[in-house]
Amino acid sequence: MTRIFSGVKPTGHLTLGNYLGAVHRWVQVDQHRADALFCVVDLHALTVEHDPGRVRRLSRQAATLLLAAGLDPAVCTVFVQSHVDEHARLSYLMECTATDGEMRRMIQYKEKAAREQQRGGSVRLSLLTYPALMAADILAYQADEVPVGDDQTQHVELTRDLAVRFNQRYGHTFTVPKAVNPSVAARVMDLQDPTCKMGKSHAATAGIVYLLDEPDVVRRKVMRAVTDSGIEMAYEPGTRPGVANLLDILAACTGTSPRDLAEGYDSYGALKKDTAEAVVELLRPLRERHAQLCADPGEVDRVLREGAERARALARPTVDAAYAAVGLLPAL
Ligand code: TYM
Repeated sequence: MTRIFSGVKPTGHLTLGNYLGAVHRWVQVDQHRADALFCVVDLHALTVEHDPGRVRRLSRQAATLLLAAGLDPAVCTVFVQSHVDEHARLSYLMECTATDGEMRRMIQYKEKAAREQQRGGSVRLSLLTYPALMAADILAYQADEVPVGDDQTQHVELTRDLAVRFNQRYGHTFTVPKAVNPSVAARVMDLQDPTCKMGKSHAATAGIVYLLDEPDVVRRKVMRAVTDSGIEMAYEPGTRPGVANLLDILAACTGTSPRDLAEGYDSYGALKKDTAEAVVELLRPLRERHAQLCADPGEVDRVLREGAERARALARPTVDAAYAAVGLLPAL
């Protein structure tokens, strides 16, 4: 059976970008067609300046939202990264497999390091080695596929390279995984700056729809989205990114194609109105289920405890085998 692994980092409240680029497909397709593991990757949240209490709250919120979105613990595994030691154990072997140059070439590292430096902060070493931990997340489970938005593809490509290199050096140990991107909305853009990805840790929030935004807030944000000059409706992401973004969002919400949708509109106002309502309707059941789960925290605890147990049992033999393969003496 195909094995799937993916994760979400608790550095901010989850956004419509996270949902349409990743979670929607995990819920609708991936959990039903494969042995799928979905992880709140809290160790990754420590790679930038963080507040411990906030990371704790956001980790719990992310796990609750994944369940509220429809991940079903009866058919998939939902857990928290730091509950399974194998991630950190294998990450070190990945650091010993990757090169400094490979890490420095990662677009996310360059962007985030530049942002930290602009703010006058220092760059944590773990921000540079982030992809080693991400590779460990994936390889520890022998994942075949990694369903992610566009921005994570480069990290998954590096994971492939590391798996191949490790296998060549030390004998076959890891499945070589591949990234799978959604066909629509693989990169949802900020509604106020459609040249920039909608990101959960951005400071300016007017262009970001959060999954827990009230319906009226969602409507306001979508209605105020920046569109492009030009009168005719057309799907042209390169030259008309604002309109293309709205068409992508509406298409992803309604399971249609952005190009087909473009033909049916003659005004930006109508497109915005329909997009806003489609997003509100998409998020409505999620918000309701989230409220129910918040009232029953024991249920989330149970899911995370059982998820971590299963994840541990899956990861341990692979990580033990990798330790043995590189020449570490087995513990007696
Ligand atoms: P993170 O937490 O930034 O995002 C979680 C998922 O949401 C997708 N995504 C988007 N998709 C479309 N448009 C957007 N604007 C948008 N923003 C985010 C991401 O591509 C991702 O699929 N490094 C990862 C977390 C991670 C991981 C892993 C993922 C750690 N280990 C192993 C897969 C496998 C991250 O920061 O995702």
